[in-house]
Amino acid sequence: MPSQRTVYEPHASVVKNSHVPSLAHYEEMHKKSLEKPEEFWGEIAKQFYWETPIDHKNFFRYNFDITKGPIFTKWMDGATTNVSYNLLDRNVRNGNGEKIAFYWEGNHPDDYSRLTYKRLLEEVSRFANVLKSRGVQKGDRVAVYMPMILEAVVTILACARIGAIHSLVFAGFSADSFSERILDCRAKVLVTSDGAWRGEKLLQLKAICDQAMSKCAQKGHNVETCVVVSHLARVTSPSGTPYKSNKTPMTDGRDIYWQDVVPQASTSCYPEWMEAEDPLFMLYTSGSTGKPKGVLHTTGGYMIYAATTFKYVFDYRPSDVYWCTADIGWITGHTYVVYGPLANGATSVLYEGTPFYPDNDRFWVVVDKYKVNQFYTAPTAIRALMKFEDDLVTRHDLSSLRVLGSVGEPINPEAWMWYYKLVGHERCSIVDTFWQTETGGHVLTPLPGATPMKPGAASFPFFGVQPVILDEAGKEVKGEGEGYLVFARPWPSLMRSLYNDHDRYETTYFTKFPGYYCTGDGAKRDADGYLWVTGRVDDMLNVSGHLMSTAEVESILTEHPSLAEAAVVAKPHPVKGECLYCFITTTEHGVFDDKLIKELKQIVRERIGPFAQPDVIQNAPALPKTRSGKIMRRILRKIAVNDRDVGDISTLADAMVVEQLFATRPKNA
Ligand code: WTA
Repeated sequence: MPSQRTVYEPHASVVKNSHVPSLAHYEEMHKKSLEKPEEFWGEIAKQFYWETPIDHKNFFRYNFDITKGPIFTKWMDGATTNVSYNLLDRNVRNGNGEKIAFYWEGNHPDDYSRLTYKRLLEEVSRFANVLKSRGVQKGDRVAVYMPMILEAVVTILACARIGAIHSLVFAGFSADSFSERILDCRAKVLVTSDGAWRGEKLLQLKAICDQAMSKCAQKGHNVETCVVVSHLARVTSPSGTPYKSNKTPMTDGRDIYWQDVVPQASTSCYPEWMEAEDPLFMLYTSGSTGKPKGVLHTTGGYMIYAATTFKYVFDYRPSDVYWCTADIGWITGHTYVVYGPLANGATSVLYEGTPFYPDNDRFWVVVDKYKVNQFYTAPTAIRALMKFEDDLVTRHDLSSLRVLGSVGEPINPEAWMWYYKLVGHERCSIVDTFWQTETGGHVLTPLPGATPMKPGAASFPFFGVQPVILDEAGKEVKGEGEGYLVFARPWPSLMRSLYNDHDRYETTYFTKFPGYYCTGDGAKRDADGYLWVTGRVDDMLNVSGHLMSTAEVESILTEHPSLAEAAVVAKPHPVKGECLYCFITTTEHGVFDDKLIKELKQIVRERIGPFAQPDVIQNAPALPKTRSGKIMRRILRKIAVNDRDVGDISTLADAMVVEQLFATRPKNA
């Protein structure tokens, strides 16, 4: 395997015509972005339409130092614009109305369609008018629980058009999780589809929404309108026949079918002019205390940063076809399926299904079918696909590919090499993009034509980003070294707050190290100045790129009447990256058996979602605790991987517990 010193130069065919053709170019641009942010971002902002012009004297203000006052970030404050206008009308006016915005590829290979910029604008305007007719106004929240279909994009942009705040929830979350999120943001409207196929699995989305809405009603919040896209009847089911469903229950007065209201709505809708610092959307992410955090992004800064990262990180040119496989319910789907590509007038593939259906080569079939130039996916998908025969990749023509992206978790060098060699033919640049729901867009990443690549390194900061590594005492680690990854100043798309909870925003991200935004990740800088993200430094797990908190899982587990206590740690997993390893202590009357294990797995699936199901549940009559009663997770992590090198255990109240747990590790662990 390549060492940290192995470097792969960008291929000449990528460097040629690239926006940033050398490391020196990159360094110069990065320097300018830090020294003259007004000039750097002002130039970019000029390419967009502003109803009220930008005041260049008041371009950018912030406070990152909690000891000096409240935390805030403002870019282009006071200027007004509309994001949907810039993504749609502006492109149509520039002569790109007939350009394809999306090739939609369904779960079943027989299902596909396409949508031009002009048609997308019409559909967005129609749905915006429907939302208005249902009483949605600027600032209202719209909850979205949808599969990867064109109506999802239309919904997002319709909200942006009228200034409503969209709040998407990944359609793999359970009704419980969804209802908690609807309640927190008090959504007025919910948009969903009757269901969808993912591979051979049928997802009954409307049924989950019904459960979520009734849970909300029990807590005093009534969703006023639920718009349902009738999707199942128009697609091919895995058995080949259309799915016959007259079973979707609709509640009179609240539920309406998209197809009954959108086609007759007007195709013109005047955009709501929004202040640059007005909210654009919110998106929940896991918090280490359990309760999800409603990350809030605003209009102007998010738009220009999404556009700029898309252009440079994927080295996008107007004739390219781009494909990001992320679900729109995650931040990657927001910024790099919807906002970034459309801001650049790009043509994208929107894919509904999984990498494994109908066969394990579906990704490569689709790349070949649409002649994709940039392909953006997650390490967990790459690791899952690596297990199959090389032939599944090599029998397809992948010569259109130029840039391969990775996101969501650290990519291990084995997966990186497979991606680089087999998929990219050692010709494509790999961009390992590090970022977060909170950062809105890429913050550490190689650039295709500029950055010599090291497998597994997120490399260098994007324009406007100033990373710092701090030690435990908050002292800057200069040169080679490892520590906490923080940022010394905001870039345009950094989140502005947590929805309705600015205090939590300040405590979570700005209190540990005053003056810095704290990512919660660790990083090291190597001798060549490359940054390597080492993973979470808090009690968070990253399962297949989905972040979740150990505290959240523990509190769900301990609701089971047979449980006295639970401690959850991350265990490395060959495909998922990490999986959940749970230690549980039963009550006096609780019995640890297969039935209990099954029930516990089921509770986690129901309460969070199937992707959160624990892999291992170990009986722990006692947990390793300090004398003050704190569970030593460091030791549990060692037990999870059966590594007896547990280090200093002198602070433990009862050291015998450790030996006991090693001796009773379950067979499947
Ligand atoms: C992790 C996803 C290493 C990291 C865009 C971060 C990564 C969390 C990378 C955010 C990467 C994301 N290398 N780690 N290239 N990308 N992460 O909010 O721990 O779902 O804090 O945003 O994923 O996950 P989120």
